[in-house]
Amino acid sequence: MTEEKFIETIEGITRLLVPPESLTQRVPPKSPAFFNPLAKVNRNLSIMAYKAFIQDMNSDTTFADALCGVGARGLRVAVEVPGVRQIYLNDINPIAINCAKKSADLNHIIGLCNFSTEDTCKFLVEHSIRNGERFTMIDLDPFGSPSTYIDCLLRAVQDEGLVSVTATDTAVLSGVHPEVCFRRYYGRPLNNQFSNETAVRILMSLIALTASRLGLAIHPLFVHVNLNYIRIYAKIAASHSKANKVQQNIGYIQYCYKCGNRNTVREIGRSEVCNICGGSFKLSGLLWIEKLFDKEFIEKMSKYATNNYASNRRNNLEHLLLRICIDEIDDIPYYFRSDEVASKLKKNSFPLLTIIDKLSTAGYRASKTSLNAGAFKTDATIDQILKILD
Ligand SMILES: C[S@@+](CC[C@H](N)C(=O)[O-])C[C@H]1O[C@@H](n2cnc3c(N)ncnc32)[C@H](O)[C@@H]1O
Ligand SMILES: [Zn+2]
Repeated sequence: MTEEKFIETIEGITRLLVPPESLTQRVPPKSPAFFNPLAKVNRNLSIMAYKAFIQDMNSDTTFADALCGVGARGLRVAVEVPGVRQIYLNDINPIAINCAKKSADLNHIIGLCNFSTEDTCKFLVEHSIRNGERFTMIDLDPFGSPSTYIDCLLRAVQDEGLVSVTATDTAVLSGVHPEVCFRRYYGRPLNNQFSNETAVRILMSLIALTASRLGLAIHPLFVHVNLNYIRIYAKIAASHSKANKVQQNIGYIQYCYKCGNRNTVREIGRSEVCNICGGSFKLSGLLWIEKLFDKEFIEKMSKYATNNYASNRRNNLEHLLLRICIDEIDDIPYYFRSDEVASKLKKNSFPLLTIIDKLSTAGYRASKTSLNAGAFKTDATIDQILKILD
């Protein structure tokens, strides 16, 4: 199929040419070029994040969409994020890039856009070597795992720049193939109620450790998850002294499959016996054990949460998600599901707000979590939670 057969769709306020089958098939095909219409919320959130990130920057900013497909994200940045001087769209598939060029024409932004069909690592590293210039913001959205691209990504981003990274190998990161997870991310996953949070934190840890090796430090800004992907945003600082502190942000989670007890440990070698039931702890990590959200940044993002530029900001999906992130206790690296707690008590599931209320009244910290709609975060342990809710 040639790109002439592509049809037009609109996302945000950007006109996109896409393969017709991608709009009708349940799983969008990779050939002749890839486009996933269901990733619209994901891309909406990224537009909000990029706007928030550059809003206070006065210098020239650039954006690289390093695996751009038909260019949906990069083209939207060109049209919808004011202040970006140059957009770089790269994909190894020339059909996808031809299509992106035509879309750029349709949106009258061809002058802002640069196109290439290199392998991602070559594109990223060569740009910074050849032009002596690094990108302000880079997006990495591969099929499957981003782990092979992380070094090149970090070498190509400027000091105080932003990286956004998607991983769709969620089964691996959530413990289905622990040996594959370890070789890709240097982290042991868990296959339990909160495995998507350990997944996010294992990916964050790989980026933090790779960064530290290159004399860089990361500051997480925002993460979100759904069934098929996890996505993280982090600011990068070129600083050996900050990179030296990477150890403070990395650790392990101990989890007891028998009683549901979980806790954070910074070093291995601690007791592997569960302090509540005497069962044996399962160890997950290395993983990021510090905060996942920069709440000030998310406040800025949420200002841009318009319902596709219609009026109803308060009720849109993106806005609601960001409100939960802002209230979330994100320095505790795991959550509890309300049905998990209810089944231990042999009761019907409790409303989340009731649980949060009871825990707060008993003096514990408690909040919803953006990572699971049916779960809560708290510094109470499983036996304390069960006692309070019984
Ligand atoms: C998940 S898709 C990107 C989707 C796109 N970001 C979007 O929002 O529509 C992954 C893309 O990576 C491209 N790709 C795969 N391996 C690559 C490589 N080594 N270098 C550059 N592009 C590659 C594929 O052609 C595909 O278009
Ligand atoms: Zn136990």
